[in-house]
Amino acid sequence: MSEAVFYLTTPIYYVNDVPHLGHAYCTVASDIVCRYRRLQGRDVHFLTGTDEHGEKILRTAQEKGMSPKEWTDEIVPRWLEVWDALDITNDDFIRTTEERHEKPVQTFVQALYDKDEIYLGTYRGLYCVGCEAFKTEDDLVDGRCPLHPNRDIEHLEEDNYFFRLSKYAEPLIERYTSNERALMPEGRRNEIVGKLRQGLDDLSISRVSFDWGIPIPWDEKHVIYVWIDALQNYTTAVGYGQDPEMFDRVWPANVHMIGKDILWFHSVIWPAMLMALDLPLPETIFATGFLQIGGEKMSKSTLTGISPHDLISTFGSDGYRYYFMRDISFGQDGEFSWEGMVSRYNADLANDFGNLVSRVSTMVKRYLNGTLPAPPRGDEVTEAERGLRAAFENAMDDVEASFDAISPTQAAKAAFTFVRKANSYVEEVAPWSLAKDESNRRRLEVVLYELTEALRLMSLMLSPFIPRAAQELWTRLGQEGEVASHTFEAARWGGLAEGTKIVTGEPLFPRIEEE
Ligand code: MSP
Repeated sequence: MSEAVFYLTTPIYYVNDVPHLGHAYCTVASDIVCRYRRLQGRDVHFLTGTDEHGEKILRTAQEKGMSPKEWTDEIVPRWLEVWDALDITNDDFIRTTEERHEKPVQTFVQALYDKDEIYLGTYRGLYCVGCEAFKTEDDLVDGRCPLHPNRDIEHLEEDNYFFRLSKYAEPLIERYTSNERALMPEGRRNEIVGKLRQGLDDLSISRVSFDWGIPIPWDEKHVIYVWIDALQNYTTAVGYGQDPEMFDRVWPANVHMIGKDILWFHSVIWPAMLMALDLPLPETIFATGFLQIGGEKMSKSTLTGISPHDLISTFGSDGYRYYFMRDISFGQDGEFSWEGMVSRYNADLANDFGNLVSRVSTMVKRYLNGTLPAPPRGDEVTEAERGLRAAFENAMDDVEASFDAISPTQAAKAAFTFVRKANSYVEEVAPWSLAKDESNRRRLEVVLYELTEALRLMSLMLSPFIPRAAQELWTRLGQEGEVASHTFEAARWGGLAEGTKIVTGEPLFPRIEEE
């Protein structure tokens, strides 16, 4: 039997504006994890999408003088363009305004109602439209939501339907105290368990003061609270209520990748909803930190949002992807800086990796006419080659352990230990010296074979991070098709065939001069 599907989701993004670096951060990380799992031969289902209902979107549309549907239809393509420019390989894209989402959301909520998990009550309290969340006085700083200091907090008093969330505090505590992988990183798990221990209130899950949302099926003057609607994208997109065969095959998600500000919704409300219907729970919820600028969360509402396009034009999609994964320790907050990005790009991509590719391919061209010799026989392999090969094996193991721990930062570091080892191997074996004396011919062939093979393996190993350069290198090394359609089956030393033609080309990562 084939292994189960690896199902990973990103948050679905509010389309009140275009994406900034903070949004792209989670999506890029998710893409890297999915690309890695595909290389392992896993059947991956990678979902992203847009969250289009609720007051925030409604008000944005009103400000633009459009209907909410007109507005979302206009802005969604701007999101798709960014994902395209960043080489995101999602298998599906869900919009919460699609019928395939709206219908099964009603089915789900009706099922909760039928099980007496929902009752009618009155909500009196505070609401932040920026978060689309009910708040208590304790959540505010100087009377304002700390994440949306430019928006006024609203006072609501409405007849709402409530979900019996309070029942689920104990089962959730049990889950998070007995399963380390259910919620990561560890600090976040402890934080949620601490909050759960204070008990849970039932949750208002409908709104009556506006109608931009999915109607409550048994009482259509209510629309379903936008978070109850949005969280279900993870199940509706894989067939809940419509395609039981697909749902059984793909659900539960292996990873819900999210930002730390939406952890409560994902780690408390969502699993409680699933528990209420006896549905399987996601295996892992992973909360990333914030991308910051000047110590503050990057956001549109504080006017610090930078578009990914502004960086891609200088660093390329590869430079972008690599920098954010490598420099911001995954799971923690981290500061974006232009200078940091330039120096990371130059040091790792232009120098360590890009120069190595240029050097090796130029030497193969110059000394071997661009044609690979026979691979070394056992007795031709010296200590130096054994060191290089061992560095590869170790890097592969470390990369795997890092991805298992959902740490693309560690994985990037581990992969680059092999790149650095290959650089020190070049210095050690000094092919240019060997080339001076014809009696060293076979030794020269051996070391250049080894180096070219190292490049092929780097192309595979680095492809989740830098897919474009990896593909270009793969092609220059005379390899067929797409590197991304291979698996680590191809990651065995000695895979390059004698006689393969190697071509040189422009630098993969031209140096960026600091201004
Ligand atoms: N629509 C909800 C999510 C629903 S998921 C069922 C939402 N959308 S959002 O557009 O406001 O945020 C989407 C994601 O972007 C969140 O995970 C959030 O943490 C992330 N980020 C937004 N700004 C960010 C940074 N500055 N840094 C890192 N991620 C941040 O919430």
